[in-house]
This record gives sequence, structure tokens and C-alpha cells, in this order.
Amino acid sequence: MKVGLLTGGGDCPGLNAVIRAVAQRVSNEGGSCVGILEGWRGLVQNISRPLEINETDGIIAKGGTILGSSRTNPFKNPERDLPAVQANFKALGLDALVAIGGDDTLGVAHRLHKEFGMPMVGVPKTIDNDLMVTDFTFGFDTAINIVTEAVDRLRTTTESHRRIMVVETMGRHAGWIACFSGIAVAADYVLVPEVPIDMPHVIDVLKRRRESGKNYAIVVVSEGAKFPDKGMVTLEADVDAFGHVRLGGVGNVVAEQIEKATGYETRCVVLGHIQRGGPPSAYDRVLATRLGLAAGDLVIQKRFGTMVALSGTKIIETSLASGVAATKTLDLAYYNEAAAFFR
Ligand code: F6P
Repeated sequence: MKVGLLTGGGDCPGLNAVIRAVAQRVSNEGGSCVGILEGWRGLVQNISRPLEINETDGIIAKGGTILGSSRTNPFKNPERDLPAVQANFKALGLDALVAIGGDDTLGVAHRLHKEFGMPMVGVPKTIDNDLMVTDFTFGFDTAINIVTEAVDRLRTTTESHRRIMVVETMGRHAGWIACFSGIAVAADYVLVPEVPIDMPHVIDVLKRRRESGKNYAIVVVSEGAKFPDKGMVTLEADVDAFGHVRLGGVGNVVAEQIEKATGYETRCVVLGHIQRGGPPSAYDRVLATRLGLAAGDLVIQKRFGTMVALSGTKIIETSLASGVAATKTLDLAYYNEAAAFFR
């Protein structure tokens, strides 16, 4: 059996652990793997290389993806790219493809299986933790640990200067990263896309904190947080191949409004891609390995059109269709726990 592997969309810590686990499972059954490079672009343009099991030695500890990634969407130019995808899949002699990605990458895998009968198995990944069916995605734990470490550092300088520090996190349209890291760093306010920004309340909380003798504060803002009147803040009007605008800048807007309304010196730090970089946490390595082994099993059993997911503590099989059905926004029970500290 010859199995292709690709990683698509924004990278995240743990991708290499999945690659290693799939390669091991397939090799244990006497099969071999081919690395499709740079996501779906690799299949459109036939950029690939054999993936030997000895190449996966030690990659569990590496961030990023040894296969490279892109946001190429073959359904954007279907007449040009879909025949190439099918022809290259055939030319490589593949029996199956394991697509490791978020909703965009898995959405393509789903459509290639549904519309063209291509043998696809999906593995969910994203630092945003916004995929349906799977309770947590690998990459998320590493990301919130990075944010936590960064804010722990920011706290000391913020306190020294009696400032307000606004920290902008990633997460796109879901507030998981901001909410979990906000709880972990004892943020004085957390803003997430699921709850419209209430600036009068933010300002009231920060003023009351100052008046009670606490002369600095930390505010964590998710990049997708929305103002009730103006909505989200975006970096540019252009959209990528999957129709997404680039988010960013809300932290600065919030910081300016806080400083103007309170008179407290306020700074903003945008953590950006630091949240996706570097080695995965132990939790993410273990989760990614378990998902990779299970995806390898699905391939061996020829259970295509499926993906693996975390349900509670168990790795389960589900359909690609259910995995990409909608965005999993933040469960507001977590937000209410964060909000208990900024009443
Ligand atoms: O989906 C992962 C993510 O890191 C989002 O949190 C963020 O909005 C986006 O990707 C950034 O994408 P890019 O790496 O293309 O700038």
C-alpha cells in the first residue's frame, strides 16, 4: 500500500508527530509513504518526495511541518486544478491520502472523496481549536502555553510601569486561545469573537481595579473580537483562496480606546505567529501521535471519507463531512468562568 501525506493551511506544533505516526503504522503493515509537499499545491503541481521511515526520527520534537504547507485550494480554479489533482494522484500510484489540516484542508479532502471518490482520511489540526467533532486539536495546548509564558513576562514590565497591557492573540473566529490563556494568566478582561466588545464595561472594570489599589492590568483580546457597531478589525481587504480575510489590529484599537477613556498609559502586544512556532508541548505530541496512529489504521482498513477525532479521552472515527460542517466556536461556559474575575 502506498499512502500520500500532506499538511495544509496554517502550520501548528504537532504536525510532524502525526506524520511520524502515520508513517510508522503504514510501515508496520509493509506499506510505504509519499510526502506531498506544500499542502494541496503539491498535488496540483506534483511536488512530492518519498517519505522513508528513518526520516521521521526525532521529528516529534520539531515545530512546523517537514512537508511544508500552503493555503492552495484546488476548488478555486476547478477546471485547471482538479484534473491535475486526480492525474498526479494516479501518477504517484497512491492508494490513499492522509490530509492533515483544519476546516479548509479537510473540506477539500471531503469534496475530493465525495465528488470524485478519492480515498481520503483526515486528521484535524489547528491552534485555533475550532473544529467540530473533535474536543481539542493538537497545536492548541502549545499555543496557549506560549501565550501564557508571554503574558507572564509582560505582567512584570506592565506592573513596573503601572500600565494596561492589551495582548492580542490568534484564533480567527473562535475565542478558545484568548479564553484559555486569559484564564491561565489571570487576565483582568478577556475579549472573544463570541461576545461583542462592551467597551464601557471594560473601562469600568479597569477603573475599579485601579481604584482598589491594583495599579496595572492585563487585557487579552482575540484577533476576531468584534465591536457591536463596526464588527471585526481586519488587516487587508483581500481574501485568501478559501475566502478568509486576514484578521489583526483589534488589540491596538482596544488599547487606544482604553487609554483615551481612562488616562492610564496603555500598550498593545500582538503575539502573532509566535503562537504557532517552536516545539509542541508533551500533550500535543501525545495527541498528535495517537491521531496519526488511528489515521494509519483507517487507511489500512480502507475506511475512506473519514477522519479521526478526540472525544473525551478516546480517539474516535468520524466522517470528514461532520468534521467540516461548521466552526466550533468557544463554549461560553468557559467564557463565564473567565468573566467571574472581571465583573
Ligand atoms: O488558523 C490558524 C491561524 O494561525 C489563525 O489563528 C490566524 O488568523 C491565521 O492562521 C493566520 O494565517 P497566516 O499564517 O496565513 O497569516
